[in-house]
Amino acid sequence: MCGIIGYIGPKDAVPYLIEGLRRMEYRGYDSAGVAVWTDDALEVRRAAGKIAKLEAALVASPLSGTVGIGHTRWATHGPPTERNAHPHLSADGTIAVVHNGIIENSTALKAALQDLGYEFRSDTDTEVIAHLVQELFDGSLEEAVINALRKIEGTYGLAVVSSKDRDKIVAARKGSPLLIGVGEGETFLASDPSAILAHTRQVVYLNDGDVAVIERDKYKVIDIDAMPQPRTVDRINWDLAAIERGGYAHFMLKEIFEQPTTIENTMRGRLILEDGTAKLGGINLSHEQLLNIDNIIITACGTSWHSALIGEMMIEELARIPVEVEYASEFRYKNPIVTERTLCIVMSQSGETADTLAAMREAKRRGARTLGLVNVVGSTIAREDDGGVYLHAGPEIGVASTKAFTSQVVALALFTLKLARKRELSVARGREFAQALAALPGQIKTVLDTASVIEAIAEEFKRASNFLYLGRGFNFPAALEGALKLKEISYIHAEGYPAAEMKHGPIALIDEMMPVVFIAPHDAVFDKVVSNVQEVKARNGKTIVITSRDEPSLKGLVDYEIRIPETADMLMPILASVPLQLLAYYIAVKRGSNVDQPRNLAKSVTVE
Ligand code: AGP
Repeated sequence: MCGIIGYIGPKDAVPYLIEGLRRMEYRGYDSAGVAVWTDDALEVRRAAGKIAKLEAALVASPLSGTVGIGHTRWATHGPPTERNAHPHLSADGTIAVVHNGIIENSTALKAALQDLGYEFRSDTDTEVIAHLVQELFDGSLEEAVINALRKIEGTYGLAVVSSKDRDKIVAARKGSPLLIGVGEGETFLASDPSAILAHTRQVVYLNDGDVAVIERDKYKVIDIDAMPQPRTVDRINWDLAAIERGGYAHFMLKEIFEQPTTIENTMRGRLILEDGTAKLGGINLSHEQLLNIDNIIITACGTSWHSALIGEMMIEELARIPVEVEYASEFRYKNPIVTERTLCIVMSQSGETADTLAAMREAKRRGARTLGLVNVVGSTIAREDDGGVYLHAGPEIGVASTKAFTSQVVALALFTLKLARKRELSVARGREFAQALAALPGQIKTVLDTASVIEAIAEEFKRASNFLYLGRGFNFPAALEGALKLKEISYIHAEGYPAAEMKHGPIALIDEMMPVVFIAPHDAVFDKVVSNVQEVKARNGKTIVITSRDEPSLKGLVDYEIRIPETADMLMPILASVPLQLLAYYIAVKRGSNVDQPRNLAKSVTVE
């Protein structure tokens, strides 16, 4: 979603702002802008659409100065037009603000400011902050911002500059991530570390309630009562290469092909083959606590929710603990049964999804212990959970999640193994499962070698208007995920169903125009799935079957076959999801979609 960048130092801020905004493009946005102190005035350039349009505006009317802020906006209040793009200026032009989040009492604040004579020039909630800071300004920008924050309700990551208190950027965080980048004689502000990684690896993550005053060679973090808040300097430990395309046509393709390595990284140092268990240092759960878990709730959104469904089945199968999977957006408004013996597992690639974060806070408030399975190091969920397992999949830039999904399932498998071995799983079964996990990276390489077969299938179906994805047992969530991948990036309508449910409704859709993707490896429910394939074939549907063996029972039923290796039933969705990702990718590319930045989507959904 929206991105914030700030620069203060000896050099021209504009190239840093534009580069930072470009690095955050993957997050999804529909307009962009910068504000720079030019020695004469605070000047703003903004444009609707992509950053290239902002660059064109800067060529037409150049800006230069050593203090600046920039923003990519994903529209909430008002359409994605130039007038609604950030930064927003105060009425007298002395204050510029960029803001992520939502000001919930903006209507009341706007009315009060209008009564004082302020005229509004945009439809945004953010503009109230600019006027409010102007109204409250009395010589110190941080004091004016703090006083404005006292009146604001809602969520924000914000950055403010002023021509009346010039050599600083004031930032504040509540519910929307922000970090300070500490450079040599220059300081950065960003909502995403990738925006500043090219210039510094030293970062200070702000917490909710923090206000930061950033100057050229120093910064301070205080709270709303101006009390100092000591914050540590962390080091970003991934390379610039991780956020660059490295020769691939799209980030999504690169991330699909990275999966042998990312899965290996998720398991590195954690899988203990001889004991058939896993070592997970960060979970902060004692032997007794693991034994005393009565029930588990896994909460997440989107793709992370799909991985949770697989986790549910693995934990129930091996650790024999009841598990419920909840959409985070629903969980937070229910009256869930949570006790001190409930473990709430929180799945999130970004660690910033607003609903997931709120669900975790709600589970904590009700007394559950929380365990975050998160990819982004230092993200809010990772910092607020009681214990965690990092995915170590590296930055995921493609909006459609791929490598994070397979790493999530692997992380859930590791946790299941640990939990199950503490309870009733035998060493022998534990070892078998651990060995199957260890074999996955090599097996994914084998699946990736079939990319050209999948590309050819994509060519056949690139004009389809609908798709059905069917699977049973552990592969039902894989069917949901395959359908989500396709609709996200190709805009083809796709549904995932448990294969046997098809005859309770979706079967009405089957005709010669309907491609049906079956996930039918040779597992415990294989024969059942074959019957469902027959039902589709009998109605002239087109079948694309992902399977793991030459099966006589499939003869004559398969229009297009994709072969994957065999593994434990529980891990099959990991192998099956790779061809599903590739199928969605190639279809989307052939349809001319913007694969890495699909329309309307954002990488991390930081609004409710
Ligand atoms: C995945 O392809 C999606 N873009 C989306 O469903 C995503 O998984 C969801 O928004 C949750 O994000 P998170 O894992 O960062 O919390």
